[in-house]
Amino acid sequence: MQPSAKVHLYDFHVCSNEAVGRDVFRMVMESPELAGKLAPGQFMNIAVPGDASHIVRIPLSFAGTDVDDGTIELVYAVVGEGTRRLSKMGAGSGSTVVGPCGNGWRIGPGGRALAVAGGVGAPPVIAAARALVESGRDVDVILGAQTKDRLWGEKDACDLSASDVVVTTDDGSYGRRGFTTQAMEDLLAQRDYDLVVTCGPSVMMAGVARLAQDAHVACQASLERMMTCGFGACSTCNVAMRAGGYKSCCMDGPVFDAQEVAW
Ligand SMILES: Cc1cc2nc3c(=O)[nH]c(=O)nc-3n(C[C@H](O)[C@H](O)[C@H](O)COP(=O)(O)OP(=O)(O)OC[C@H]3O[C@@H](n4cnc5c(N)ncnc54)[C@H](O)[C@@H]3O)c2cc1C
Ligand code: FES
Repeated sequence: MQPSAKVHLYDFHVCSNEAVGRDVFRMVMESPELAGKLAPGQFMNIAVPGDASHIVRIPLSFAGTDVDDGTIELVYAVVGEGTRRLSKMGAGSGSTVVGPCGNGWRIGPGGRALAVAGGVGAPPVIAAARALVESGRDVDVILGAQTKDRLWGEKDACDLSASDVVVTTDDGSYGRRGFTTQAMEDLLAQRDYDLVVTCGPSVMMAGVARLAQDAHVACQASLERMMTCGFGACSTCNVAMRAGGYKSCCMDGPVFDAQEVAW
């Protein structure tokens, strides 16, 4: 599945925008044309109103779309000024969004896959897991968070009838105590996979990439970088490559072959 839709500016309005955890929000926005064009793993750049001095758009992945309703589901953490203002956008308010941006997951038919998410890396991983299930694959999902109140995605993963859903929290407040990589080591010892998809903190994805490489399993990682222009002109979002040089997260990514990235 390779995205082909051109990037455009669209209007959107907020259908709902609610806290689903500590500083974690779920927004459903209506933007019918864009909803029909987004492929799993792609992202969008949102203009958040409320501060004329803040012109940089916020890049966000999506967890799912409903093409019939024309809606897009986002899950985001409030980490700074832009996401704080985004969290204040109430139902009925609106702005503009640029998308669909980036390359998306490369998903086709195959064997069993493993989807590993950390924190608010869950939205694109849930979108990948859904696409994998729809392409006829068995998928196990590992979702990790620092604490129970920062976890999102368990219900969505269970609704996918993924074969196994394993939840980890760093402090043991829910699910298994420890990191997603420990759960991944256990699953790799029990089952054969031919693809791992991952998104989360960089240190976690580096560990996931290493485990996948040791097990000789292909691994795709959705990277997050600070972004300024969002269209390949500023180099803010550079990703260092193992072979040398850089690629841009906004144009060449955000999904990369994990073994090509210089973690
Ligand atoms: C392709 C892509 C998809 C993303 N998808 C999601 C998502 O689905 N859910 C979600 O919660 N977040 C996602 N992010 C991260 C999100 O874009 C940032 O958290 C947001 O832009 C921060 O804006 P701010 O104005 O609130 O914070 P700022 O005030 O700009 O920054 C606050 C802090 O966050 C750090 N930061 C800012 N932007 C990024 C970034 N892009 N990557 C890593 N650290 C950053 C800064 O270094 C700073 O420490 C994604 C980022 C990218 C590039
Ligand atoms: S954000 Fe400017 S090149 Fe990627």
